[in-house]
Amino acid sequence: MRFGGLVALDGLDMAVERGTTIGLVGPNGSGKTTFFNVLTGLYRPSAGRASLANEDIFAKSPQAIGRAGVARTFQRCRLMLDQSVFDNVALGALRHQDLGLAAQLFRPRLRASVDALVERVRYLANRFNPAIAAALFEPAGRFTMIDRRRIEICRALISNPRLLLLDEPSAGMTSEETRRLMDDLLDFRRESPDLAVILVEHEMDVIRRVSDRCIVLNFGRKIFEGPFESLIEDRDVQTAYLGSGQ
Ligand SMILES: Nc1ncnc2c1ncn2[C@@H]1O[C@H](COP(=O)(O)OP(=O)(O)OP(=O)(O)O)[C@@H](O)[C@H]1O
Ligand SMILES: [Mg+2]
Repeated sequence: MRFGGLVALDGLDMAVERGTTIGLVGPNGSGKTTFFNVLTGLYRPSAGRASLANEDIFAKSPQAIGRAGVARTFQRCRLMLDQSVFDNVALGALRHQDLGLAAQLFRPRLRASVDALVERVRYLANRFNPAIAAALFEPAGRFTMIDRRRIEICRALISNPRLLLLDEPSAGMTSEETRRLMDDLLDFRRESPDLAVILVEHEMDVIRRVSDRCIVLNFGRKIFEGPFESLIEDRDVQTAYLGSGQ
């Protein structure tokens, strides 16, 4: 991915197997969010290829990529804080659907599908925090930071993705809140053994707990791939973080 003269992602090559969680780390500006933006079709890459179960991702629109099974959360909270939890989460399901004239013509069916959607949102929210499920029609802004993050993750999960991209879910939270959110994520992972996750995170403790494998980016290039224990001992990774040798 190039931005003018800047090569933000450079020959990045990775595979994410079903049921695997990849911890993606790297210094600020190393290309982590750009990678998510490219994978979700927000940016058109200058070159390269990505496939999800043999489907060519880069040939698709962002909506079609969502339908194919890629969902994400954003580094900065993107909830509509004055809208209800339900509206925020339902958006994750509806933005991939075509709710055009046909839906209007079959109002009873629309009604049934809205009822089903309410139940799905309630079920998902309940898995993260029953207090959210009990207040589905309260504005999202009423909730604490950790619950807002949970709502965002529910919005990503409502479309039943195959690949979930989490961009620094701990941003703006205390370490205790982060620990609880990661407990939730680990619980959810156990119940959804096929889901693949890429987690971008600065907190090494989180990466250690949650990742099956780690990848480190520096200046858009992959400089390390392997288990967490080797990551912390890796000379290239240490140099990238300490900033020496540049
Ligand atoms: N739309 C854009 N136009 C121009 N440059 C961009 C754009 N988006 C990202 N960049 C540049 O690409 C590089 C990678 O940025 P990116 O946001 O992907 O880093 P990051 O690893 O997510 O950093 P952080 O840890 O701070 O979130 C940076 O140099 C950034 O300035
Ligand atoms: Mg980022």
